[in-house]
Amino acid sequence: MSPMFKPKHKYRLARNAMPGAWCERVQLPDQRQLWIRPITAADAEPIRAGFALLHPDEIRKRYGYAMKEMSADYAQRLCHPQPGRDFVLVASEPLPPGVALVGAVARLVVVDDVKGAEFAILVSHFLAGQGLGRHLLCRLIQWGRRKRLREIHGDVLSDNHPMLELAQELGFVRDSHDPSDDMVHIRLRLR
Ligand SMILES: CC(C)(COP(=O)(O)OP(=O)(O)OC[C@H]1O[C@@H](n2cnc3c(N)ncnc32)[C@H](O)[C@@H]1OP(=O)(O)O)[C@@H](O)C(=O)NCCC(=O)NCCS
Repeated sequence: MSPMFKPKHKYRLARNAMPGAWCERVQLPDQRQLWIRPITAADAEPIRAGFALLHPDEIRKRYGYAMKEMSADYAQRLCHPQPGRDFVLVASEPLPPGVALVGAVARLVVVDDVKGAEFAILVSHFLAGQGLGRHLLCRLIQWGRRKRLREIHGDVLSDNHPMLELAQELGFVRDSHDPSDDMVHIRLRLR
C-alpha cells in the first residue's frame, strides 16, 4: 500500500486528495482503489453500461421501483448537474471519465423554496459494505453545509434497512410514518 494512505478503522477509508474540487483517491478495505470526483458528461455511457450489472433489488431501493435500463435522457441529465443546484459525486475506477466504470453515484438536488436538498445514493454490490456509502453521504452533507442549506432529506423504502441504519447513524430522523406506507421520509437538519 502506498504510504500516502493511512487507514485507521475498518470503515475509515484510506484516502488522499487529488487535483480538483471534491476529488480524492480512496482505497477500500478490499484494497480496491477508486477515484471519487464530481460526475462529468463523459460518465453517461459507462453509467448506463454499469446499470446492467446492478441487481434488481439495488435498483428498486435506489429508485423505489423496478427499471430494466437507464434511459439515455436520464443519464444525460444526471451527468449534467446544474451548478449550485445539483451536486453529484461518483466513485469510479482510477481511469479517466468516459473510460472508467462507475461503481457508486451520490446525488444532492437543491429544492430552492425550502433551502433543502434531496439526496439519493447507490453503491453497487461490488463495492458495498466497505464504508463507501457512509463516506459519500458525508461528502453530500459537507456540500450542503457549505451551501448553507437548511436540511437534507430523502425518501427511503421502509424495507431498506442498510440505508435507514446509515442515515440514523449520521443523525437523520424519520418523519412520522404510517406503517402501511412503504416509504419513509428522512431528514437531517444542517442548521
Ligand atoms: C445503502 C447503501 C448506500 C449503503 O452503502 P454501503 O457502501 O454499503 O454502506 P457502508 O459500507 O458505508 O455502511 C454504512 C452503514 O450502512 C449500514 N449498512 C450497510 N450495509 C448494511 C447491511 N447489509 N445491513 C444493515 N445495515 C447496513 C450500517 O449502518 C453501516 O454502518 P456499520 O457498518 O457501522 O454498521 C448501499 O447499500 C446501496 O446503494 N443500496 C442500494 C441503493 C439504495 O438503497 N439507496 C438508498 C436510497 S436513495
